[in-house]
This record gives sequence, C-alpha cells and structure tokens, in this order.
Amino acid sequence: MSEESPLHVVTSVAQLRAAVAELRRAGRTIGLVPTMGALHEGHLSLVRASNEEGHATIATIFVNPTQFGPREDLAKYPRTLERDLDLLGAAGVAVAFVPTVDEVYPQGFATYVEPPEAAGPLEGERRPGHFRGVCTIVLKLFLMTTADVAFFGRKDFQQALVIGRMTRDLDVPVEVRVQPTLREPDGLAMSSRNAYLSPEERTRALTLSRALRATVDAYRAGERSIARLEEILRRDLTAAVDSIDYAVLVEPETLAPGEEAHDRTVALLAVRVGSTRLIDNAVLGEDFA
Ligand code: PAF
Repeated sequence: MSEESPLHVVTSVAQLRAAVAELRRAGRTIGLVPTMGALHEGHLSLVRASNEEGHATIATIFVNPTQFGPREDLAKYPRTLERDLDLLGAAGVAVAFVPTVDEVYPQGFATYVEPPEAAGPLEGERRPGHFRGVCTIVLKLFLMTTADVAFFGRKDFQQALVIGRMTRDLDVPVEVRVQPTLREPDGLAMSSRNAYLSPEERTRALTLSRALRATVDAYRAGERSIARLEEILRRDLTAAVDSIDYAVLVEPETLAPGEEAHDRTVALLAVRVGSTRLIDNAVLGEDFA
C-alpha cells in the first residue's frame, strides 16, 4: 500500500461518488483503469500511465457478466481480490471500486448500449453480445467515476477501437488512452486468462507472438501482399494451437480486409489452446516488443 494515501476500497456507487467528490474538492483529475481483476503487470502499467499523468487513479474490479456468452468462462474467471487490492495499493491507486453484480445491474436493469459498427466482425461474430456488454459497463463506469481519462490495453485491439468510437459517438467527455501490450519475457501477451494454461499449453501459446513477429518481420522485409502475410501469420499456428478463430490482417479503423499492407495494418489473432481462448495482435510498421 502507498504510505501517503492508502487505497480507499468502495463497493457501492454512492461511496464511489463520495470518494470522487472528495478527490475533485482536492483539485484532482480522475484517471480510470477498468479491470476484471486477476491483475497482472499489464493492468499495473495502465495504473502507472494514469499516475504519471498526475490523475487520482480509480481502478475498478468487476467481472462483468453481460459481456460473457452463455458458454464462456464467467464462472471460472480467475478471482484474486485480496492480491489485486494489495497490488493496487502498492501501485498508488487512490480508489478501488469493487461492486457486486446487483450494485451494477440492480433488479429491473434494462438499458444497454448498442455498439458501433466496429463491434461487428471478428470478436463480434465469435462472441455475440460481447461488445454490447463491454460498452454498457464501460459507459456506466465512465458515468459513475466521471473520469477525465480512461486507460485500456492494446491487447484488446477491437475493444479499444469500439470504446473509442462509442465515446466519440455519444459525446462522452472522457479521453480514451490505449497503452501498449505488455509481454512476458518469452513473448506471451499478458492476460488474466493465461492462468488457465497448463505448462504444455503455455509453451504452445508462445506461437502467437512468434507468428505475429514473423508477420511484422516479413512486412519490414518488404512483403506487402495481405494474402502472403496472412499465410505467414497462420504458418506455424495451425500445428501449434487447437483451433484458429481468426488470423487476419485488417484496416485499423474499420477492421475490414485491406488491399495491400501498410504501416498501420493490424494483424489480429484469436485462437484456442486447450480450452483457453487467447487473443493477440501487432501493428505492422511498429516495433514488436
Ligand atoms: O478488458 C477488460 O478487462 C474488460 O472488458 C473491461 C474493459 C474491464 C470491461 O469489463
């Protein structure tokens, strides 16, 4: 825990609003880091980004049921609250908002955000209703916290795009910042779902970052054909993972297939290793860390 201002943990919207009012009275701006808990370095990098901009950081921990499909991992999603709060305290978060499902979706709750077009392909096709749930909870968190700035990870590329669009389209006065994906030293993108992987599956999961790196390298070496780059992206994945939901190169603003690769073309992957669904991505023309 930070010695100067210990973490203030709140569970109700009323307590959250009171904590925000106190921060505002002290002249603070609010940086929001929404999470579903099971925190890792990637989440903490978002907290650091918010703190470095000088905001009082509010982190939320809420495993949002409306963004999970009926056959998805809501029940088994890792829940490590005590450890998460220790990490948030040590990282200098001002307020942790840890609501119950009933607090966020009380009896009679019936209003949802209709997500923008960018929510349609890829994750949208494979996870019907997912972005409706994400947009709804994120908008609610924006309104509950009155955040000035909100921080999201680039690993969820489509999520960040959808949230940016929603925020713009609905004139929500929150700046959305998208921070780089953090990786383990061996390249695996940090994700709470990595906890599901057995050692053997984790080894196979390294193929995602290798495939992305090979694609970025081929682009750097001059390859511009989307078809050829997608072949490179899929080359080693097919043998290593149990199934590929998608492995594509698309335009970064629309997620539509491109004609020819360029510096902002994004390579997006979603695969299953064992029963774990993993996503990752890389932007061509950028260093692949
Ligand atoms: O990226 C996540 O962890 C979740 O989708 C978010 C943004 C916290 C909304 O529940």
